[in-house]
Amino acid sequence: MFRFLSLVTLYIIFSGLNAFAQDASKGLIQPGAIWPDNKGNHVQAHGGGIIKIKDTYYWFGEYRAQDNDTSYRYVGCYSSKDLTHWTFRNKVINIQDPENLGYRWVLERPKVFYNAKTRKYVMYMHIDDARYKVARVGVAVCDRVDGDYQYVKSFRPLGYESRDIGQFVDDDGSAYLIFESRPSKGFYIARLTDDYMNVDKEVCFIHAPLEGGAVVHYKGLYYAIGSALTGWRPNPNKFATAKSLAGPWSEFKDIAPPETNTYSSQSTMILKVTGTKGTTAIFMGDIWKPKEQWDSRYLWMPLEIGDGKLKLPEPKPWSINLKTGQYKLAP
Ligand code: DGJ
Repeated sequence: MFRFLSLVTLYIIFSGLNAFAQDASKGLIQPGAIWPDNKGNHVQAHGGGIIKIKDTYYWFGEYRAQDNDTSYRYVGCYSSKDLTHWTFRNKVINIQDPENLGYRWVLERPKVFYNAKTRKYVMYMHIDDARYKVARVGVAVCDRVDGDYQYVKSFRPLGYESRDIGQFVDDDGSAYLIFESRPSKGFYIARLTDDYMNVDKEVCFIHAPLEGGAVVHYKGLYYAIGSALTGWRPNPNKFATAKSLAGPWSEFKDIAPPETNTYSSQSTMILKVTGTKGTTAIFMGDIWKPKEQWDSRYLWMPLEIGDGKLKLPEPKPWSINLKTGQYKLAP
């Protein structure tokens, strides 16, 4: 009995220390920790993407809360002015099987683009059935960044099977959809049409069987990161470089020591923050917990990047200064 009580006391002390909660109060991003939003709930934006509108970042992702209605799929939207403290805005997608794919239908990796011409926010998402055989992208639209998005349609981009998707907006504003295509054993980077409602043309096919595709344009060079096809299990993510988005792309190399399996995470996006003194490229990854998806964590770390090299450093708490564009690892 005494032993049991001591264990309970220890547990209370440790939860009191909040050892695993995000230390956003100190302005720190803590990879792998619970990331509480403004209401104290763990951020539900898995497999996500980020856009910046004026001085505000919006983070969209799979909203997989434990009390979700299981026949619905939701996309969460959060906002932040410092990339550290996040305010829950809305479940911007809140829908029930729009393509009649069955009870265990799939909506994954939502990504939102803002189209300045139409002034519409256009969301792409991976839509599938329980066996991942449908392999399409879904499109939803809204007039407001955090409004209720209206589901419009689904299709196979350029006629290809499409599972994991990624988003990339180049420095000149051109918007691209990245999508993995199993039959072609690689992934495509495709430009969106003027209104972003469709895929216009293939810019590049990268012949490497990788998903979780993410691209950044950093100091004149393009870097692409992807993960191997191992379901929810982490694997050594890899990167390649190219002078032009259209390639040719270099060989793929590990972004971290392979035995760490990308520190148990999987790529979803690379976010570039440019300030007065520098540019930080942030690796955004998911630490999946397939049996408790609501508790899946995030691994965000500034990449060591430049001159064709890229390294995901060992995860540690860190902070970002959006004015200067520089980051600092916590002591
Ligand atoms: C890996 C993908 O990256 C995830 O988004 C998800 O589709 C899982 N596979 C499903 O096994």
